[in-house]
Amino acid sequence: MNKENIAVCFPLLRQAAHVVVFTGAGVSAESGIPTFRDALTGFWALHDPMDLATPEAFDRDPALVWGWYEWRRRQLRITQPNPAHTAIAALAGRLPRLTLITQNVDDLHERAGSRDVIHLHGDLHSPRCSVCAAAHSLCAESGTDSLEADRKISPPRCLHCNNLVRPGIVWFGESLPERAFQQAFDAAGDCDLVLSVGTSGVVQPAALIPEIALQHGANVVHINPQPVRSQHPQEYSIQGPAGEVLPRLMSAAFC
Ligand code: OAD
Repeated sequence: MNKENIAVCFPLLRQAAHVVVFTGAGVSAESGIPTFRDALTGFWALHDPMDLATPEAFDRDPALVWGWYEWRRRQLRITQPNPAHTAIAALAGRLPRLTLITQNVDDLHERAGSRDVIHLHGDLHSPRCSVCAAAHSLCAESGTDSLEADRKISPPRCLHCNNLVRPGIVWFGESLPERAFQQAFDAAGDCDLVLSVGTSGVVQPAALIPEIALQHGANVVHINPQPVRSQHPQEYSIQGPAGEVLPRLMSAAFC
């Protein structure tokens, strides 16, 4: 971890009136959930997203798609929030205002104590009808946690129109949920600091959030074990795993 960048960044955190924390899969990596694009272990290194994360994939083979998201739900049940989630939840109590925007579909931020999390890409626990969009309640969780990623499971049927229920995830080619989009982009234009944690920043429009903040005069700090190149004078990076960097940044700023 580069300590000198923590020394540069902690005053930005201490002085900020409104901080946006913008998270991606990397914030959950230390809980044991794979990222999408890390070589070898990333979901998209092992599976073709076009088979699992598009409306066309669901039309073609709904049982394959439902089975994969069911596997991810079960994987999440045996997973706990890590020190990065905990630090972000604690940060909300130390700042005048914090907006937490995540691209993740897990509930680890909420389980760590964060409230009002903006889920830009949907949520593993909110499936809905693929035709009438009615919300569907999942049955009480039961059964074994050892389910294979490629086991086909037929999706349930909508109680209102009997069509197939689909995962409540934003798939490639789909629009972001309108309210989440509006809240996230409003916050990006209105904050002093973005902590961009554990994201490759390649999926649009979410990846615009740090850019919008920079355009409005905010500082942006990237936290990632991979080097992130700063392209703007108000852009910084702290290289290291989020579960180590965030607690240190917080204690530098507030202890
Ligand atoms: P990616 O897999 O694209 O990027 C994960 C990032 O986390 C990489 O930059 C890693 O270097 C970094 N990382 C890995 N371990 C970390 C750690 N311990 N601490 C901090 N960072 C770490 O995931 P996202 O950027 O979230 O979309 O991907 C964006 C979207 O692409 C996802 O929301 C998903 C996917 O398709 C949907 O599901 C709709």
